[in-house]
Amino acid sequence: ARKSSIRIVEVGPRDGLQNEPTNIPTNIKIELIDKLSETGLKTIETTSFVSPKWVPQMADNRNVFTNITKRKGVSYPVLVPNLKGLEAAMEVGVTEVAVFLSASEGFSKKNINCTVDESIAKTKTVISKALENNLKVRGYISCVVGCPYDGAVRPTAVSKVADALLEFGCYEISLGDTIGVGTKNTIDAMLLHVLRLVSSDKLAIHCHDTYGQALTNICTALDLGLTVVDSSVAGLGGCPYAKGATGNVATEDLVYMLHGMGAETGVDLKTLIQAGKFISDFLQRPSASKVNNAMYSR
Ligand code: HMG
Ligand code: MG
Repeated sequence: ARKSSIRIVEVGPRDGLQNEPTNIPTNIKIELIDKLSETGLKTIETTSFVSPKWVPQMADNRNVFTNITKRKGVSYPVLVPNLKGLEAAMEVGVTEVAVFLSASEGFSKKNINCTVDESIAKTKTVISKALENNLKVRGYISCVVGCPYDGAVRPTAVSKVADALLEFGCYEISLGDTIGVGTKNTIDAMLLHVLRLVSSDKLAIHCHDTYGQALTNICTALDLGLTVVDSSVAGLGGCPYAKGATGNVATEDLVYMLHGMGAETGVDLKTLIQAGKFISDFLQRPSASKVNNAMYSR
């Protein structure tokens, strides 16, 4: 049974833009976020407070966060890898952060330069400090079915990290198929295992569309009772430490599918399409959203 109301977490300004090779002006990022704020989306991940040596594209995090128009009722989380990032985020008044770990060792080492166990220990401190300061904390787990370095990932590796993050106080865990290799069967098996330990209302699904499986995999998650889905306007993105991975499922395509199923998202598709068109035009390339391409000219 599919739920009638689905919450979408828009990750385009962060997961989408972090991978762009050429520097995107801060004002373009701000304009994109402001346009997304007008669509009815309730959660928009805006930037990340990571090391600018690792991800130069997010070096303007303070300026972006400070200058966006914060619409009432919309949450604007940012990614933080460590205490330094958390402190910088708090200085500019961030009220929600996301921590990010990997289920696989190879990606953990390449993305955050430590082992999975080290990342769990470090993240505990970050989450505690955030909670002490009344911030909400979301947790990401990457490579939940496959890793660009280690290959297939076991469901038990995912549940181990999910268990820790929930115990430390994350309100929700987003399960990321970072390189988009999952299929209905592998996503199903992973979720069935995790759902033995974690209830569906604490989980979100985060699918990259590298192999064109994202919408199918999202449906699999919805059928298992999940009601929170991450997506990226215009299907932007990828991860600098996951070579070959393309963007997340396009928010326009997700909204079209959900509305077609009779689910509510609170998102106005026409306004969303304008936001997607804005950033695709700026990047001077066609949108990765099929729905945007089909509907824009009408
Ligand atoms: P490190 O080199 O081991 O850390 O990196 P370090 O503590 O030695 O710091 C190195 C330098 O960075 C130092 O500067 C620090 O001050 C600075 P120096 O002394 O050389 O001048 N630094 C920072 N500067 C600003 N803000 C900070 C910060 N931290 C350190 N927060 C570290 C470790 C975790 C910092 C690094 O590996 C890093 O920043 N990694 C982030 C990589 C990243 O952002 N990846 C993409 C996001 S994850 C993703 O996309 C997946 C997801 O979408 C889900 C999915 O799809 O599965 C979430
Ligand atoms: Mg991602």
